[in-house]
Amino acid sequence: RGLRVADKGFLNTAVIESSITYIDGDNGVLRYRYVRVYVTVATHPEAYRRGYPIEQLAARSSFLEVSYLLIYGALPSGSQLSHFTSEVLLHGPIHSDAEGFFRSFRYDAHPMAMLTSAFSYLGSYYGEANPSLQGQDLFTKAAKGDATALQNMDRQIFRMIGKATTLAAMAYRIRQGRDFVVPPTGMSYTESFLYQLDHLSPTDQLSGLQSYKPHPVLAKALDILFILHADHEMNASSTTVLQTGSSLPDPFSAVAAGCASLYGPLHGGANEAVIRMLLSIGSPKNVPAFLEAVKKREKVLSGFGHRVYKTSDPRSFIIRKVADEVFAVTGRDPLLDTAMALHDAALKDEYFVSRKLAPNVDFWSGLIYRAMGFPMDFFPVLFVVPRVVGWVAHWRQMMLSPSGVKIWRPRQVYVGPSTRDYVPLEERK
Ligand code: CMC
Repeated sequence: RGLRVADKGFLNTAVIESSITYIDGDNGVLRYRYVRVYVTVATHPEAYRRGYPIEQLAARSSFLEVSYLLIYGALPSGSQLSHFTSEVLLHGPIHSDAEGFFRSFRYDAHPMAMLTSAFSYLGSYYGEANPSLQGQDLFTKAAKGDATALQNMDRQIFRMIGKATTLAAMAYRIRQGRDFVVPPTGMSYTESFLYQLDHLSPTDQLSGLQSYKPHPVLAKALDILFILHADHEMNASSTTVLQTGSSLPDPFSAVAAGCASLYGPLHGGANEAVIRMLLSIGSPKNVPAFLEAVKKREKVLSGFGHRVYKTSDPRSFIIRKVADEVFAVTGRDPLLDTAMALHDAALKDEYFVSRKLAPNVDFWSGLIYRAMGFPMDFFPVLFVVPRVVGWVAHWRQMMLSPSGVKIWRPRQVYVGPSTRDYVPLEERK
């Protein structure tokens, strides 16, 4: 039917209309919850576009407040924020059966493999969120304003955000052969996460390990990193969540699909790849040779380049500052010298300048996570936990769309042969 062009990699295809996140890739602008503002005199197109600048949110807000903003479209009132916070934290604990599930993985399983499976596993507990069991109109009722259906939807959202840290901490601790800890009360989301990762379980206490309390500077740094990672419009994993969600599985399955997409080194695995790259370069004196190898396409400069940003990713400036605050507590990572030499040399090099390749969010984030003592293969998990918020915000927006959900079923440009006659096996050459 007149299909001519395949937009490989969706370079020029917008798949949704959304008011969640606004990016201006040419000018390095990122804002959450974009709204159109109609003014009588438009002196500049910007007059029509208002969203909360990422710089302000990182400096003045908190991760759960930003989560509320992304999901519901407005900054919460005091009572809305305390309700949202208590619901999310209340849904942190997980059924003790999940311990057996995590123990069934091999001792060296990648945490992302565990987390991806765990979200899918979680869905098996909540049949109330599954249109295959409850009827295909489960979410349509919510879109029509049915209060019970909307509450049901919200409950799944609280569960996914609340349990994201619990599942991530379980994936972390099982790798270390440590028991699990129950999510604490009276802590912020990021403090609770750090506590679940490193607090002493009863067995740890018997083995004489020292007591653990989240460091306020590190908890604050993680909170800022979570704000920066919460959403980024139609990145590969959010697209995957919507593509999967469009056939109406339960939302846990859609989020599990998002995890699988984020796992790859071109997306959420990039922060891990940056550290591996820096370790392989070894020291600033080896940077020129590394960049030559990149130019010959023998290597990739991880943490550089972006589909949308054709200048520096605005999040990278904020992260660079957070890195200094973290290093003041943890000590300076010697890899920073190599990272800075690489960063500065690439930004002056014609190959990268002409292709508009600049540092993205992942160039510095891995160094922060490493300084905080996280193992490299856990870095993508630290990206998933906040991105669950973006995924559920997009999923909710799609499910509540007044025009209904349309299954995402793209077309292809077929380039294979036309009809061929079947040849029996014995006659095939
Ligand atoms: N190192 C070397 N060359 C690069 C890089 C890089 N990191 N990124 C792009 N290029 C080159 C690419 O080879 C191409 O060159 P040419 O025009 O001569 O063929 C040109 O720049 C345009 O790049 P592209 O591959 O068409 O860009 P894309 O939009 O398809 O890919 C990307 C975007 C992020 C996958 C890519 O830049 C990349 O692989 N970067 C490294 C991985 C990375 O840091 N990923 C994290 C992205 S930000 C967080 C997230 O969203 O997950």
